[in-house]
Amino acid sequence: MKRVTKAVFPAAGMGTRFLPATKANPKEMLPIVDKPLIQYAVEEAVAAGITDLIFIIGRTKRAIADHFDKAYELEVELEMKGKLKALEQLRGMLPDNVNCIYIRQAEALGLGHAVLCAEPAVNDEPFVVLLADDLIDATPGVTKQMCDLYDYYQCSVVGVQNVDPEDTASYGIVAGDRMSEKVMRMTHIVEKPKPSEAPSTMGVVGRYVLTPRIFHHLRQIERGAGGELQLTDAIQSLLREQQVLAYQFDGVRYDCGSKIGYLEATVEYALKHPELSEAFRDYLQCRFCASAEELRRGFSSPEAD
Ligand code: G1P
Repeated sequence: MKRVTKAVFPAAGMGTRFLPATKANPKEMLPIVDKPLIQYAVEEAVAAGITDLIFIIGRTKRAIADHFDKAYELEVELEMKGKLKALEQLRGMLPDNVNCIYIRQAEALGLGHAVLCAEPAVNDEPFVVLLADDLIDATPGVTKQMCDLYDYYQCSVVGVQNVDPEDTASYGIVAGDRMSEKVMRMTHIVEKPKPSEAPSTMGVVGRYVLTPRIFHHLRQIERGAGGELQLTDAIQSLLREQQVLAYQFDGVRYDCGSKIGYLEATVEYALKHPELSEAFRDYLQCRFCASAEELRRGFSSPEAD
């Protein structure tokens, strides 16, 4: 049985929703507290036993490679200044048995195209795809949960969650037959349907375990929603010859591709951060007690005072 050891991180999108922050940096480098989104995704993959990290990079190509490279000068400087904790953090970012591979996606032709760019590095093996702007807080991590399912069923698995019926046009939406409380045998998947056309409210979030047969289908599909080559369309095509499961994972997902989701994640991760939680909790309490007080004062009429 072939275990999943390769992960693909598409990171060549334009990041238009976060401009100008993403003018010279990919959105995957936006930090949640003190770590960029891509590092959370990488840690989730490594915790699932992934050893080959394949980054699909675009226009703002350098930042991600620089982030995961060894930074000799910085390490020497930290050592000289005795900043050993920071040094330890830097050195421990990636285990020694993990390789980073960078592939340039010259044109932003869509998620399907980004995944196809990974084929020379993935070859004939199952692999995971992680979209780093979907930050998922889960124990064990969602990638581990999904690789375990892959090990058991030996077929592709797509992470899903129930989404607001009004938001179906932001997601790949799946339909299927329920096998257990959390697992469905997918019968249909469609990219960004209008609410009136959606087959369900089960939306794909950015985690996939895929068999290498997906590459065949990615080569066959035509441009779909938004004029892009969609991974969703290749999965719909794959479904006709292989079983694909939809998995309602355990965990909380933050849509860090949107400003509100990004802010929610920042607040929640700050509240959990070992060095910050207390001070931040105090700050929020003072801030919101003060606001409640201001509101009360604002609402009371002059006569009542
Ligand atoms: C992509 C996928 C979509 C999926 C979503 C999850 O869309 O195409 O099927 O539901 O990620 O975040 P994007 O958000 O890149 O437009």
